[in-house]
Amino acid sequence: MSIRETRAWQALETHYHQDMKDVHLRDLIAQDARFETFSKRAAGIMLDMSKQRMQPKTLEHLLALAEESGMKEAIKGLFSGERVNKTEDRPALHTALRLPKDAELRVEGQNVAADVHETLERMAVLVDKVHAGQWRGATGKPVTDVINLGVGGSDLGPLMVSNALDAFAPRDIHHVNVHFASTIDGSQLAELLPKVDPETTLFILSSKSFGTIDTLSNAETALEWLKWSLKGSKEAFIKQQHFIGVSTKPEKMSEWGIHENNQLLFWDWVGGRYSLWSGIGLPIALHIGMEGFERLLAGAHSMDEHFRTAPLEDNLPVLFGLAGIWNVNFLNIRSLAVLPYDGRLKSLPGYFQQLEMESNGKSVTNDTELVDYSTCPVIWGEIGPNGQHAFYQLLHQGTQSVACDFIVPIERYDYIEDEELRQDLKAQHRLSLSNCFAQSRVLMLGDDAVSGGNQDAPAYKRYQGNQPSSTLLIEQLTPETLGALVALYEHKVFVQGTVWNIDSFDQWGVELGKQIANETEEILRTRKGSDAMDASTRHLIDTVWAHTDR
Ligand code: F6P
Repeated sequence: MSIRETRAWQALETHYHQDMKDVHLRDLIAQDARFETFSKRAAGIMLDMSKQRMQPKTLEHLLALAEESGMKEAIKGLFSGERVNKTEDRPALHTALRLPKDAELRVEGQNVAADVHETLERMAVLVDKVHAGQWRGATGKPVTDVINLGVGGSDLGPLMVSNALDAFAPRDIHHVNVHFASTIDGSQLAELLPKVDPETTLFILSSKSFGTIDTLSNAETALEWLKWSLKGSKEAFIKQQHFIGVSTKPEKMSEWGIHENNQLLFWDWVGGRYSLWSGIGLPIALHIGMEGFERLLAGAHSMDEHFRTAPLEDNLPVLFGLAGIWNVNFLNIRSLAVLPYDGRLKSLPGYFQQLEMESNGKSVTNDTELVDYSTCPVIWGEIGPNGQHAFYQLLHQGTQSVACDFIVPIERYDYIEDEELRQDLKAQHRLSLSNCFAQSRVLMLGDDAVSGGNQDAPAYKRYQGNQPSSTLLIEQLTPETLGALVALYEHKVFVQGTVWNIDSFDQWGVELGKQIANETEEILRTRKGSDAMDASTRHLIDTVWAHTDR
């Protein structure tokens, strides 16, 4: 049965047409106890949904939809290790990666919590060795730079967290610079290599499958560079001193030449885009220390516990997910902008893009039927204040409805010792907070945000408002609150996938492109086979050949 046929979905459709279709946010925000009804707190985060185009009754219907979708059972299944990833027939146990040391979680006879902590210990040994200045390159010098080679989930998570938590890098250690290179064209690596010393650079090959061409081609280039630069050293020794591998495939790592002691393993029940909490988080631990990494896990765990135990009506990921369902399926808003008002979170929109769109960008249900409703919106975004000078024009006066997530910490810069510098930067943060609150208010109220009104202004100066948003106010950006924030979005994705009855943990939609790219590479290289291609692609290939032959 399609979710559209449930009683709750139909009640929501009726409610939309009868009570909500023509209601403007300016009228909703004036309702009694609006803020109290639509805002909740957990794990250091306050979620304010009072600027969403919902009434208390909307929420009641949405909660009924969650019940009818089997939300409680689904949450139980996720945490207990049921095979919720149906098309790949395996659990999705990223929550197990954040369990405390004394926890026990038996999945098909195996205590996965113990496996997780064993790997964390191995990770700590690697991190300690680097931080003690004891990890030496082939010529005997201590490592100074680490380059993570990975893509998608094996890049975006560690990159985002390392950027966000830079201030938490420990000072009492042998410092290493952590860099990231992901692009298949080699441009990031080519830019990095001249800036680092081959004698003291360590590479991490991060790949769940250890078969991703983007990462393996960067790895080959890195190896060539080392071999060329360290001419006196044997290849096997270079690999031993300069490469760590993180993967679920030990045999493939060994085949590539990653020394057994340099392999960090994780499990096929960790999805790539949910893997920053596993060995894939090694660059994070190298950047902010093992203690910082464990604080990140603890923060995510506190959101997990909230999600697992809180009643649906108080449950942040459930409410956040349901607001998204309302926007997509009933208000027909299929675009969501993620807008952090903190430069440290610059990589967050890109990270959430993969998390949400690769998880819920699906059109086939768990019963292998085509959906007859919309699923994941288009997720995009930018540092909020920068976006104000770029694309907010469209948010305020364009023809699209766009929902927005505003994300901002309350406290900032308390750690700065110099009093005057601290006060200057705090004033800048106050500017950021003011802009954040001003923008969500203008998006909601339009002209009504102007005291005295704006009704007499010419049409090009008018603002319609009525663009819904949520604000996530974080007490302070710490490893704990960042962990909780990411877990909140992960669970939001699960909540929406459950209502839409889709598999949030597979990604079959990326496979065909990989296969065709391999075939195309062969045609480009061998100059054979382009005749069988479509007119556009054939001519593009011919143009490349003609250019190369000039
Ligand atoms: O092609 C998509 C994808 O499989 C993502 O799901 C994943 O995060 C990324 O590629 C990288 O995969 P891997 O870690 O196996 O190299």
